[in-house]
Amino acid sequence: MEEKNVVTPWEVEGGKDGIDYDRIVAQFGCHLIDEAVLERFKAVTKQEPHTFLRRGLFFSHRDLGTILTLKEENKPFYLYTGRGPSSELHVGHLIPFLFTKYLQDIFDVPVVIQLTDDEKFLFKDMKLEACQKLALENAKDIIAVGFNPAKTFMFRNTDYMGVMYPNVIKISKLITANQAIGCFGFDGSSSLGRYFYPAVQAAPSFSSSFPTVLNGAKIPCLIPCGIDQDPFFRMTRDVASRMKERKPACIHSRFFPALQGPAGKMSSSVTNSAIFLSDGKKLIAKKINKHAFSGGRDSVEEHREHGGNTDVDVPYQYLRVFEDDDAKLAEIKQQYESGQMLTGEIKKILIEKLQGIILAHQERRSKVTDAEVRAFMAERNIFNP
Ligand code: TRP
Repeated sequence: MEEKNVVTPWEVEGGKDGIDYDRIVAQFGCHLIDEAVLERFKAVTKQEPHTFLRRGLFFSHRDLGTILTLKEENKPFYLYTGRGPSSELHVGHLIPFLFTKYLQDIFDVPVVIQLTDDEKFLFKDMKLEACQKLALENAKDIIAVGFNPAKTFMFRNTDYMGVMYPNVIKISKLITANQAIGCFGFDGSSSLGRYFYPAVQAAPSFSSSFPTVLNGAKIPCLIPCGIDQDPFFRMTRDVASRMKERKPACIHSRFFPALQGPAGKMSSSVTNSAIFLSDGKKLIAKKINKHAFSGGRDSVEEHREHGGNTDVDVPYQYLRVFEDDDAKLAEIKQQYESGQMLTGEIKKILIEKLQGIILAHQERRSKVTDAEVRAFMAERNIFNP
């Protein structure tokens, strides 16, 4: 925790560009998910790893090996992820949840999902009541991703704080203001609430924060999250041994690029950078046609001759995330890079793909009832239901 953070989680959320992934990994001692890690993952799970892993969207980890060993030995663990309810969800927000659901499916483990209404109240210009309400709206989208209702507990911090509070204060006692300043960029004008909040995000990393939900089990935790959330869990790992708890393992994703290009992160607060899960078919097409950064050439002649650049082409980069079929993706890449496929054509492929995914999501979400939200948020045993 001595080294100053590259960029704070809240700056990243504002769409700040220039994320140097290699530097983050090197500076903070994460480990790249390389071929060897993928091989082990495949051997343990006895299946081809998810495209998000194979294509490097989830690219870094801490202690993933320990979790795979648990799986091999048939020992329990749980997954922890979360969402800051400051807006409706865009397609980039789906990624950690799709991935966490996949992990829940292949490992058959409990999942806890933290809705940080307190965080957004403290770090954004928002009313607490609005954050609390948005949390329930976001919960519907998260449920629509398909988590196992018997094994998933979702909670708003302002509701669940009482149960976690013993751990939250224990954690907060182990972190000095100077450490928080180094890790999160706070200063003398930051509110007390901001200084305290990291302890709240750390607490669910310890199974003792879920006496009922995890039925008193003392089990390790794996956290799927965006790399921007790593400062919280570096800090959590730092305090774990002094709390006589296990360090949580992490698996980190890259940012989902803004429509304007890979330099920025898709952000709800940056106009036209995002495709929302509530966007209609026409709006999806319009946003992609109008705003998606193209790696194509200036003229058709030039494009036919030199081909497009898939490294920076947003439609191709999004297809890498959302087109599951490796053969199809390879064909698109070959055709686009050779100039056979034009920008308008690759955009059309992406539009159809995203319309399919988003409309199916809307269909499932429309069926999620308030009662179901309450059921997911009810404090109950999900460890051996
Ligand atoms: N801070 C996260 C956000 O702003 C929300 C969050 C809370 C989270 N706990 C988490 C994200 C655990 C990933 C893993 O969105």
